[in-house]
Amino acid sequence: MTYSYTKHHQNPFQDNSAHHVATELFPNGDCETAQSIIPKWPNYTPTPLVSLTDIAEAAGVSKIFYKDESGRFGLGSFKALGGAYAVQYLANQKPGEDIVVCTATDGNHGKSVAWGAQLLGAECHIFIHANVSQGRADAMAAYGAVIHRIDGNYDDSIAACIELADKHGWHIVSDTSWEGYQEIPRQVMAGYSVMCREILDRLDGEKPTHIILQAGCGGMAGAVIGALWPHWKDDMPKVIIVESDMSDCVYESLTRDEIYLVNITEETMMAGLSCGEVSELAWPPIKYGVSNVITINDDGVAPMMRWLANPTDSTRPSIVGGECSASGLIGIMAIQSNTELALATGMDENSKVLVLGTEGNTDPEIYKKVMEGEI
Ligand SMILES: Cc1ncc(COP(=O)(O)O)c(C=O)c1O
Repeated sequence: MTYSYTKHHQNPFQDNSAHHVATELFPNGDCETAQSIIPKWPNYTPTPLVSLTDIAEAAGVSKIFYKDESGRFGLGSFKALGGAYAVQYLANQKPGEDIVVCTATDGNHGKSVAWGAQLLGAECHIFIHANVSQGRADAMAAYGAVIHRIDGNYDDSIAACIELADKHGWHIVSDTSWEGYQEIPRQVMAGYSVMCREILDRLDGEKPTHIILQAGCGGMAGAVIGALWPHWKDDMPKVIIVESDMSDCVYESLTRDEIYLVNITEETMMAGLSCGEVSELAWPPIKYGVSNVITINDDGVAPMMRWLANPTDSTRPSIVGGECSASGLIGIMAIQSNTELALATGMDENSKVLVLGTEGNTDPEIYKKVMEGEI
């Protein structure tokens, strides 16, 4: 299997001294608050940071640190940290009110919101687009959410969610933000920062040279940059974004220097990355914090998921990694297989790369087919 990329852009705006964008993203110690609250939730345990020795060797880098989010609160993805936390934040802002929450999602965020709502006994409405798998819809319904399946793509599901929220007075708990709607997505992003706290604790002073972040709406990437930049400041590792070439909104926005809406006409297998527009809050950290963006197609996704599950170094644990988790690793392999790209990203045999294994087996039917080689 050769892992390859489809497009690359080197971002001329990247500036390591611009870490003020991180402070502007989280002006009120939002990350610190989330990092003090979430670890007190029942069944909290930091997720592992695994050294992928075999993939690092094959890629020709010194180390790959893989943050394995497959076990996060039993929900199977890092998204468990964001939506549920924002639901709790919202409820605290509205004491005594029977809040109804809603969101659009391609699966993982909705599960988090549904879980958070269920814990509070709040009504929850989830909007999914035509291509969200039934397995993902059922997983959200299992947390008591009402599922609304609409025609169109992810961005159409957001429009439907906003319309019904306005009509019924529901509270939108979105992982993406737009003009005039920021406070809740900011808290979602602050929730994600718990991953960064755990990573820093586990690295114990060891510093990666590169951080690979997969992007849908860029909320996770913005949050990770926003949470880690104040730590490393001018010495921030190089941040590289990986996107699906079917929903390459970060690529299209960075090349144009403005948020650009990509019309998604085909759905990537990496369902969580299928968003057509960069979150407004995530734009400044992405614009100034990201060195390079590459896009990939779906070809390497299933092989990489199988490689995660079947280590080629017997000392490395088997990992349950879902479609989105494969993307960062495909990114490393693609960069190292291309001399020009390796030079452009500064990746070489001495590099220590941090990747986020953002999901595990979030769609059991698809996961099984991938493992059995049917996909
Ligand atoms: C598993 C997984 N990884 C990565 C992402 C990308 O996150 P964002 O949309 O914040 O860029 C998502 C989004 O749903 C996801 O579900």
